[in-house]
Amino acid sequence: MATTSWERLADWYDAKQGDEGDLWHRTLIDPTFLRVVGDVHGLRLLDLACGNGYLSRRFAREGATVVGVDASSPIIRRARAREAKEPLGIRYLVADATRHIPLESGSFDIVASNMALMDMEDVEGAIQEAARLLRSGGRFVASLCHPCFDQGPSSTWILERFFRTTKVWRKVARYRHPFADEMPWGIEERTVTTVGYHRPLSWYARVLRDAGFLIRSLEEPEPTPEFIEGSPQGHYVVEIPLHLVIEAVQWPTRARPPRSRARPAQTASRRKTRSPKASATR
Ligand SMILES: C[S@@+](CC[C@H](N)C(=O)[O-])C[C@H]1O[C@@H](n2cnc3c(N)ncnc32)[C@H](O)[C@@H]1O
Repeated sequence: MATTSWERLADWYDAKQGDEGDLWHRTLIDPTFLRVVGDVHGLRLLDLACGNGYLSRRFAREGATVVGVDASSPIIRRARAREAKEPLGIRYLVADATRHIPLESGSFDIVASNMALMDMEDVEGAIQEAARLLRSGGRFVASLCHPCFDQGPSSTWILERFFRTTKVWRKVARYRHPFADEMPWGIEERTVTTVGYHRPLSWYARVLRDAGFLIRSLEEPEPTPEFIEGSPQGHYVVEIPLHLVIEAVQWPTRARPPRSRARPAQTASRRKTRSPKASATR
């Protein structure tokens, strides 16, 4: 079983997301993510890298049959504790989503993955697993840090003041090649890091196509009034999106186009951040 850099953050992450998601999830990312997922009533849904399961529970309350998978046993313990407190019939598994997940092929209508693809080193494996677990015509919906605008410490906001106006720029240092870096999280007075993996947009498009998916929609979550009001970055993301939602449909095998010739690079150099600043861009 893969141990990820999220393992030791289970308590903090469970408290942060609670039963509805934190400000970023609830008022920025989730409204778009949930709109793309759509009506789940009567559907079999896999919540891939489910964290504490707050979205698994939401989907189950809306009438889906839900399985939640996460590589971190401490976070799945918290998800199960919430299930024990309010039983919704959700099954939780500790499993590495980038390898074989012990679930039957073709057994889901939707695989939903909220803000997790950029946390996986071998995300190609996870996308292939999503394709295997979906029935033909099933949908994979994933939100992630926007590959064009949010590469953790390799991107930042620049505020430029002129006369009485302030222009906000998004500065991006690296984009074209995959790389790994440390993502800082401010937990009270401490800074704790997880490892984030950047890949350019074309990389995701190739990997999805090679796994047998057809991209159906790309959405860039727009801030709700509550987010604009509640986050110091609220006004900035009105113009520059920090998140992307991908919706892809699993093609019937016989209708698939040929695989692409160039195989995307799997991993990349890991550059350590010397002076991480507390950030919460996801
Ligand atoms: C940012 S959290 C998102 C959790 C949840 N989807 C949410 O929206 O709150 C990323 C999650 O991905 C999980 N994760 C990272 N790598 C994984 C892997 N290889 N397989 C399964 N889960 C993984 C982590 O344990 C963590 O719970």
